[in-house]
Amino acid sequence: MLPNFKSGFGGSKSAAVRMGDIKAQEVERITSHCKELDRALGGGFIPGQTIILGGDPGIGKSTLSMQTAATLSQNGKVVLYVAGEENLSQLKARADRLKADASAIIVLVETIVEVILRNAKQFNPDIIFIDSIQTTYSNLSRGVPGQTNQLKVVTQALTHFAKERNIPIILIGHVTKAGGLAGPKVLEHMVDTVLYFEGEEGMPLRTLRAVKNRFGNIQDVGIFEMHGDGLHEVPDPSKLFLQGRDMDATGSMVCPVVDGNRCMLVEIQALVTGGMTGSRSTVIGLDRKRVKQLFTTFGNVAGVDVGGIDLSLSVAGDVTVKDTASDLAIMLSIISKYLDMNVCDVVAFGEIGLSGEIRPVSQAPQRIKESLRVGFKKIVLPAGNKEAEKLVAKELEARPDVELLYFDNISQIIRMMCEPPALDVDALSME
Ligand code: TYD
Ligand code: MG
Repeated sequence: MLPNFKSGFGGSKSAAVRMGDIKAQEVERITSHCKELDRALGGGFIPGQTIILGGDPGIGKSTLSMQTAATLSQNGKVVLYVAGEENLSQLKARADRLKADASAIIVLVETIVEVILRNAKQFNPDIIFIDSIQTTYSNLSRGVPGQTNQLKVVTQALTHFAKERNIPIILIGHVTKAGGLAGPKVLEHMVDTVLYFEGEEGMPLRTLRAVKNRFGNIQDVGIFEMHGDGLHEVPDPSKLFLQGRDMDATGSMVCPVVDGNRCMLVEIQALVTGGMTGSRSTVIGLDRKRVKQLFTTFGNVAGVDVGGIDLSLSVAGDVTVKDTASDLAIMLSIISKYLDMNVCDVVAFGEIGLSGEIRPVSQAPQRIKESLRVGFKKIVLPAGNKEAEKLVAKELEARPDVELLYFDNISQIIRMMCEPPALDVDALSME
């Protein structure tokens, strides 16, 4: 017998539609009242959204959650905070440290998902925080808390509740030593968004980034600093990273680096000491292999035997730079220290190849704009990025004192720096 097409297969009401007939729906976002968190989320929470907030133990997941819960509750939202790892007095002690008033949060110390959901039905919250997914378990499932089976059942039950009630639920999750979420990868597929909270041990800087987001892009990074009274937002990372800079120092070079969609200025510092061992090098915040390669390239191009030089390189302010556009700034910080020349008023970006060629990089307009915003007047950049000038024409027009210095090989820069009195930048730059 032929199926009854009118009622659909098995009574399903789904019907195919033409793409062009679908009306774009404006998603209503719920602000967290924290710009850095909203940024990482792609604009705020979405009703019905499930989010995993992952990170190393002690990084500040509970602090971020408690702080957000406090602000949301102060802004009229009913917030349920479920703690499976801490008791009420520990929660109170954390809340007391925070600047935000946490008194309106509904707290529940519980690990059984069925009890959590019963409470959730009773209090009818606008948002739920589960701290943590690894300690929560179901009475109806086998296995101990944290085991794959339990994690799946618990996540499924909570996801179902979030969709049914159309409220966001945040699941705090620990990461393993390998950096992945403790538990199966499938957990990440079961939720809408996965955020990672990261930072160097013992340092205050924290970054919050989405590694998966069904409701936004994964390029927006939130930046925070951990203080005695909780997490502070860092709306202007460039300002933070350059504060207290010694403008008389040599070996210091600023670079506009891009992380996700965010451009920020960081300071790279070099120290070169001659002749002792030649094998000692300290690298902080940069890739050691890349630094070594750049140092060798410097030696080859400048005709310097770097084998006898000890090099120390670091990025100020506990930042880790992965952006290869920092090559040129690293190189210039080394040259500046080697020649004992101050280049503190210059920013530089560009990738460097093995023969010293300076290669164009992505997001050049963004890097120029950020450098201008912070007030730099000299920008050293790859000749191959000349196109970017057109895209920032308006900004440059407003700043006639700004010089864009284009180069295509570091040999030109070294020559220019070695002959400062006869300096003719226009002749050297690639017009
Ligand atoms: P926590 O949020 O408990 O980390 P997680 O939930 O990721 O394990 O934060 C733990 C660390 O943060 C702890 O070492 C104390 C520190 N901290 C502060 O420095 N300031 C604060 O206001 C708070 C609440 C914690
Ligand atoms: Mg915690």
